[in-house]
This record gives sequence, structure tokens and C-alpha cells, in this order.
Amino acid sequence: MKERIVVPESEMLRQREFMRLVEKLEQRPRSYHIVSMGCQMNERDSESIAGMLEQMGMAHQPVREQADLILYNTCCVRENAENKALGNVIWLKELKKDKPELMICVGGCMTQEKGMAPMMKKRYPFIDLVYGTHNMYKLPEYIYRVLTEKHPVVEVMDIDGEVVEGLPEKRANHFNAFVNIMYGCDNFCTYCIVPYVRGRERSREPEAVIAECVRLQDEGAQEIMLLGQNVNSYRGGGAEFAELLYRIDRLGIPRIRFMTSHPKDLSDELIQAFGELKHLMPQLHLPVQAGSDEILRRMNRHYTREHYLRLVKKLRSVCPDIGLTSDIIVGFPGETLEQFEETLSLVREVRFDAAYTFIFSPRTGTRAAALPDNTPYEVKSERIQRLIDLQQAISLETLEAQVGKRETVLVESVSTRDAGSVGGKTPRGHMVNFPGGPELIGSFVEVEITSAGRNTLRGRRIATEE
Ligand code: SAH
Ligand code: SF4
Ligand code: F3S
Repeated sequence: MKERIVVPESEMLRQREFMRLVEKLEQRPRSYHIVSMGCQMNERDSESIAGMLEQMGMAHQPVREQADLILYNTCCVRENAENKALGNVIWLKELKKDKPELMICVGGCMTQEKGMAPMMKKRYPFIDLVYGTHNMYKLPEYIYRVLTEKHPVVEVMDIDGEVVEGLPEKRANHFNAFVNIMYGCDNFCTYCIVPYVRGRERSREPEAVIAECVRLQDEGAQEIMLLGQNVNSYRGGGAEFAELLYRIDRLGIPRIRFMTSHPKDLSDELIQAFGELKHLMPQLHLPVQAGSDEILRRMNRHYTREHYLRLVKKLRSVCPDIGLTSDIIVGFPGETLEQFEETLSLVREVRFDAAYTFIFSPRTGTRAAALPDNTPYEVKSERIQRLIDLQQAISLETLEAQVGKRETVLVESVSTRDAGSVGGKTPRGHMVNFPGGPELIGSFVEVEITSAGRNTLRGRRIATEE
């Protein structure tokens, strides 16, 4: 049985009381800056953290150096993510020399790693607060303690399985929103540290998810992204996730997406949903990781290349225009040239819209970290470059095939590269830039695609009846 601990209402009230106490303190930070690293789940957590900090009377400070409180929400999925987090923290030591009242908080996946918190306590005594993934909701209490006891607080909890409802939040914007449907992961892919730092898989109640979607819809959400490490096993798998999607679809929010899906659990019901649901966008992130059965087996992925290709075929028969994206690892321990080339041939066969590619990074405590690995790093670098080149060629061809089409774009931001342009996504998830002003952000605009770049499309607005 999966253990699931709902943090009681009384505990949440206690934390609210700490928020009030912090707000009343004379000597306390007035502004905050959060650095969110890693995946969308961390981004979503950062929105809850921002909500709590604001309830403590702090205002967002966009310039990191000027904030009174700096919080790092860290990631450790690969070594470079961890190095980046630690490098940043060391840099903060210098900042604190000039500004002794600066409060530094570090939390998220990296601090939850075994041995990390004691190491940080010893080596980085200038950090005021270290907390983990399972006790983020206690941030108000910890901040109160740092401010009143005037010494660092290091608290990382080992127990997991918690589901927290009712945290305050400050969303990045009103028109597209992340909604967690589950936390943690039980898959233990042999390379992956996530199950160790995010804990056991547990799902939110469908009613809680629906209530959040309804609230977001009332606040103007045009698109929601449902989040979980493996949404297909929502509440133990089977048709549960598809059922949740059907319920959310009925709410009428224009666009629904979700991530991430594990190929071993992608049910026929879910595939069918892509053909039936009005608001489910034709886009799916379906990480394949490798094209060789032997490597997939050693990764503990529980599917074969054949199975994956069959899923792709089914998805495309239900939804011919579906945009598929993927994650791929190169240089898993013992990967031979032939096995790597099976990944290339799978990529050629599937023709992903885009793929995120990574060189295997050994993570302490995972099974793959202990496997013999004789492939030199230079060889792995050459392999990943071959893969990137191939995927880029396919991505470009896919984007070029969109030229001339009319698309509805949900405008997300002002384009940083093109002055006077804005950018947003098509239903399939392609990014389109086109001339327009910031007043369009958050609205749907009809666009004709005029050209394709390496990763994005360009378009022009077409007149629609008012
Ligand atoms: N839950 C998601 C992925 C979360 S991590 C899923 O199962 O698909 C995001 C991606 O990081 C993974 O898909 C994998 O491709 C990559 N990754 C995870 N651990 C890694 C490691 N040790 N080295 C290299 N890449 C890794
Ligand atoms: Fe990691 Fe695998 Fe879980 Fe994804 S499914 S988070 S890759 S263990
Ligand atoms: Fe990183 Fe944690 Fe996400 S390790 S990828 S931030 S779940």
C-alpha cells in the first residue's frame, strides 16, 4: 500500500500563525528573490514559497542582489545542476559580507540528498536556513526561528508521503498555470535521483485538483499544465488519470496539457483521450531515454523499443498531428556504439518535434552510479553531438512543414530577441513569434506561420472578426 499523509489543517493554521508573527517582527526581511532551478515541479513549489513570503509581508525584488532574503530552490537531477546550485550559494557568501542582514535560504531537491544538509551546515555556516522537499510548508516557522533565535536552522526531514493542501501561492501569471496532481516517484529508473529526493509516489484527491482548476479558471486561466513525475500512474494507474482528464476537460478551460508520462503506463484510455477531449492539446512529452532494449532494461524502464514505437503509432492514429517530445540519455554505463545507434535510429523513426538530450550523470546512491563505465567522456560528447545534430535537422523539417498554416497562439511573453514582437504556443506546442505588443499577453491570437527558425516559428497576425 502506498502511504499518503495529508498534512492536517491544524498544522497549516499553525504555519499561518508563524506568517503573522514574522510579519509583525521589527527586524525582518522586507523583500525576497527566489531562484528556481530544475523542473516545473520546482517552479510550482516556488509559487507556493512566494505566496508564503508575501504573507509574511515581503515583496518580490526582481534584482537578486537587492533582496533582503534570497531563496534557492535547488535541483540535483544531474551533477551540473548541483554544481550550479552550490556555486551560486558560495557566491552569496561574498554578498553577505557587504550586507550582513541578508537572509539566505536553500531548499529543494539538492538539500534532500543524503548527507547534503550536514555538509552544508559545516561548510556553509553563512546559510541561514536549509530545508528539504518534505518540509517546505514549514518555511514560516523556520524563518521565524532564524529571525528570533538568531542562528542558522538546518532541518531536512526523512519521512515522506506528505500531501499538502491549502498553501498560499503567488502564481507567475493569471493565464497559464501549473497544477500538481501527484508528488514523488516510485519508478526507480537506475540513473535517477528523483525518487530519493522527492519521496514515494502519492496523488492528490481528484476533488482537490478539480477545485484548484475551477479556481484558476475563475481567475482567468486559459491553459493549465497538470504536473507529476509520472502522471500515468495517478492514484495507482489504470484509467484514473484519463478519468481525471475527462473531468477537467468538462470545465471548459481552453487548453490542457500534462507532464510527464512514462511509456510503461500510458493507457489506451489516455491515448483515446487525445482523440476525444476538446481541450486537451495535441502534444505529449513521452521520454524514451534510449533506443536499445538492453539499455532500457538496465535503466529499469519496463518497456521495449517495440512497445514505445507501438505507442507512437497508436497516438498518431488517434491524433495525426500530435507533437511528440522526449528526453534521451546518452552514454549510460556500458552503452556500446551499436546501442547508441539504436537511439539514433529510433529518433529517425519517431521524428520527435524536439528532444532534451543529456549525457549520463552518475548520481550517488542510484544503482547506475555503481555500474562499470568504460566509455570516455569525449566519446559520450561526440555521441550526444551526433544525436543533437540529427534531432535539430528533424525539428527544423517539422517546423518548416508548419509554414503557411493558420494557428491559434496563446501569447505568453514579449519576445526577447525581436523588438516589437510577442511569442506564444500553438496547440501542438510550437513557439511562434510575431509582431505585436504586450497588451496581447494572455490572449489567443490567430496567426499565419510565415517562416521557420531552428527552434521557433515566425508568423503574422491575421484579422479575425471582432
Ligand atoms: N519523471 C520524468 C523525468 C524527470 S527527470 C520522467 O520519467 O520522464 C528529467 C530527465 O532528466 C529524465 O527524463 C532523464 O532523461 C534525465 N535524467 C535523469 N537522471 C539523469 C542522470 N542521472 N543523468 C542524465 N540524465 C538524467
Ligand atoms: Fe526519475 Fe524514472 Fe521517476 Fe522519471 S520515472 S522521475 S526518470 S525515476
Ligand atoms: Fe530537479 Fe528535483 Fe525536478 S531533482 S528535475 S528539481 S524533481
